[in-house]
Amino acid sequence: MKALVLAGGRGTRLRPLTYTMAKQLAPVANRPILFYVIRHILDASIEDIGVILSPETGDQVQAALAEYFPGRPFTLILQEQPLGLAHAVRVARPFLGDDAFVMYLGDNLIGQGIRDLVETFRREQADAVILLKEVSDPRMFGVAEVDGDGRVRRLVEKPQTPPSRLALVGVYVLAPCIHEAVEAIQPSWRGELEITDAIQYLLDRGYRVQSRILQSWWLDTGKKDDLLEANRVVLDEQAQRAIEGHVDADSRIIGRVTVEKDARIIRSEVRGPAVIGAGTLVDESFIGPYTSIGRNCLLRRATLEHCVLLDGVRIEGVVRLEDSLIGRNAVLRRAFPDRSALRLFIGDDAEVVL
Ligand code: G1P
Repeated sequence: MKALVLAGGRGTRLRPLTYTMAKQLAPVANRPILFYVIRHILDASIEDIGVILSPETGDQVQAALAEYFPGRPFTLILQEQPLGLAHAVRVARPFLGDDAFVMYLGDNLIGQGIRDLVETFRREQADAVILLKEVSDPRMFGVAEVDGDGRVRRLVEKPQTPPSRLALVGVYVLAPCIHEAVEAIQPSWRGELEITDAIQYLLDRGYRVQSRILQSWWLDTGKKDDLLEANRVVLDEQAQRAIEGHVDADSRIIGRVTVEKDARIIRSEVRGPAVIGAGTLVDESFIGPYTSIGRNCLLRRATLEHCVLLDGVRIEGVVRLEDSLIGRNAVLRRAFPDRSALRLFIGDDAEVVL
């Protein structure tokens, strides 16, 4: 079995971060979402992994793969235009050949691995197995209608009137008959070749499509609050106490806090679960729970909690920053002497709540 990871496409919902960054590289507990995806695939003993890239962000995705999985080979496949998930399967045909494969959307984060899904595919001798999760508003997803045995009856992409509340999570196991389907279908109303339509094509022709319900959480890390929530859940479950950087005698580190290499905590308090990235300086500050701080940041006289800071962020004199997602190299600084006027230099599509 092979795996096809989709790390192309455009991340419109995470703008402005995704003007310069692949959405699959958005950090959760200081690691790109893509890292968790590849780890699930490797945990399911699948070694032969193809990664779909876009021309805009392909270089960064490639660099992240090399950084987080040094020495591991990946087959990199360029999708020139974001023409849909089924289009990605078409483009990947030379890599996929006639093997069954797991297709995993690189911006999906789930709380458990995919071994169970792969086993279901083998045990049931299915032509496709899809992963489902009940959601309150399924209209923005692919939606499935299933019978009592988990056998799929019908699939529909982003329906106005959903036939159920079971949304398609972005992980699929597919037999090679999917290639016939992706060649046959037409683009949807949004101009994309939908994998949902390709699997419906299989259903129409009597192929066996099985489903599993995801037992753990699923975070479609589409927007700012989803990313903060993903960060909270992953820190909650996975954060460890590990002090590799320097903590001075006047600082307190409470609970599960990771202080990465060359980070320095001076006259500060950090309460876990939290992670402080390599090379970051935290000085006279308070870092509260559920905070992930990237690499080479500077925090001075700052108080924050439940925040995600990307690399190179500088925060000085800002008291009580909460529920915030701050992009690379952004600067937040209180003017001195204190002024009532706000002076902002903010990128396109940014959001500031005062
Ligand atoms: C895609 C699929 C959809 C699925 C979703 C999961 O949607 O088309 O069926 O439910 O991923 O994240 P998109 O992200 O392209 O809107």
